[in-house]
Amino acid sequence: MSALKQGEFVGSLDCGTTSTRFIIFDKHADIVAQKQLEFPQYYPEPGWHEHDADEIIDTCNACIDEACTELEAAGWAKDSIKVIGITNQRETAVAWSRKTGKPLCRAIVWDDSRTKNVVAHYEHKLATTGLELDGSFRKREEGIKALRKVTGLPISTYFSAIKLRWMITHYEAVKKAHEEDDLLFGTVESWIVYRLTGGLDNGLHITEVTNASRTLLLDLHTLQWDKSLLDFFDLRPSILPKIVSSSEVYGNIKNGALQGVPIGGLVGDQQGALVGNKCLKQGEAKCTYGTGAFLLFCTGPDIVESTHGLLSTVAYQDGPDAKPVYALEGSIAVAGSAIKWLRDSMYLVTSANDVNTLAASVPNTGGVYFVTAFSGLLAPYWDPGAAGLLIGLSSYTTPAHIARATLEANAFQTRAILESMKLDSKKELKHLKVDGGMTNGDKVMEILADIGGFDVIRPEMREIRDPTLWVGY
Ligand code: G3P
Repeated sequence: MSALKQGEFVGSLDCGTTSTRFIIFDKHADIVAQKQLEFPQYYPEPGWHEHDADEIIDTCNACIDEACTELEAAGWAKDSIKVIGITNQRETAVAWSRKTGKPLCRAIVWDDSRTKNVVAHYEHKLATTGLELDGSFRKREEGIKALRKVTGLPISTYFSAIKLRWMITHYEAVKKAHEEDDLLFGTVESWIVYRLTGGLDNGLHITEVTNASRTLLLDLHTLQWDKSLLDFFDLRPSILPKIVSSSEVYGNIKNGALQGVPIGGLVGDQQGALVGNKCLKQGEAKCTYGTGAFLLFCTGPDIVESTHGLLSTVAYQDGPDAKPVYALEGSIAVAGSAIKWLRDSMYLVTSANDVNTLAASVPNTGGVYFVTAFSGLLAPYWDPGAAGLLIGLSSYTTPAHIARATLEANAFQTRAILESMKLDSKKELKHLKVDGGMTNGDKVMEILADIGGFDVIRPEMREIRDPTLWVGY
């Protein structure tokens, strides 16, 4: 057997909402080997969406192993991988035990909307008791404004602290762990790093700053956990991971095919796409169409406070001492997942791409509108009580009209976000860079450009993956 060649490669672990990928890139950003695997989705009640955190890590390890096997089959030694970076679905909350290193319950996924009552409770608390900042309580409108000023976020089912509060209230094991200081909390990158760096055996408990900015607990200005927010949400500080930048060497992988390889980058997937699309300067924007759709508009060193329903977030921090770059974001909970629903629950199509063909077979929706509010509505409406609506049906309606209305729903929501962005940033986008699995469909992109009133720019590498999974997970 001939000796394996040595190269200089980078591994990228992309832990999305419904699948994980590990891609090995060479110096020219060409793919040398890759593996993508789906993992189970749990929907135990209407509006609920859960992941098994152990299944997430098992899928990560399987993707790493299989991509490394493919790398070796292509003639490269696996120690050609010099460093890996991790990008992830963001607000999904994971709770595990400090003592056992095991998850205490299933993770609550970012688009889960079970926490409406938690939101109502904290809205009420904001109105009555208020949020204590610098020794004084801000109530009602002042409280909402103060929370937004500190975190960049509204109170919503979307963000992790709300999900964690639900876990503490409803799961005895999580409540007990919180009381006994056995609870460790993290978003998905935090959990993966903990496990890859050894878990119980000195695994790191860290979180990356763009992910931390989605919890409702981070002060966007200082990039530190905010004590007054922890008090407001009744959370002990010791449950929280240490905040790290998006780019530094955090530690090394403890076991498996990549034993000893450093982890040198972490970033929330939507912020990763912003950087990947080279939207590094003020005024540049992209929209990624995956499970949901996420339009991020880079605001450079400035935190732009939205007055039109968007959120302010950290875009990236290029090293521990680097100044952070910020973004305005419009988050749409349902994009590709509506197509998945047409395929897997309604059996309207057999493959995701058929939706494009079906939609293209009719000139319009025949009066059908689809409001895809499967988990309430996020930006710019922030309505946790909204439910999905399929309206304008008649005897004339065919599956093709419904397929087209689904693609239009995506475009209408993007347009609403762009209109808010224009009002907040005083800039009109003439073109929009897009990526994500859904952007492989020509019809959906054509409809987006027509309804949006802008040019759509697709990169060559939208998401290289198994085409049967193109919905974007
Ligand atoms: O905020 C949720 C987002 O990070 C999910 O991304 O790519 O899994 O749809 P994706």
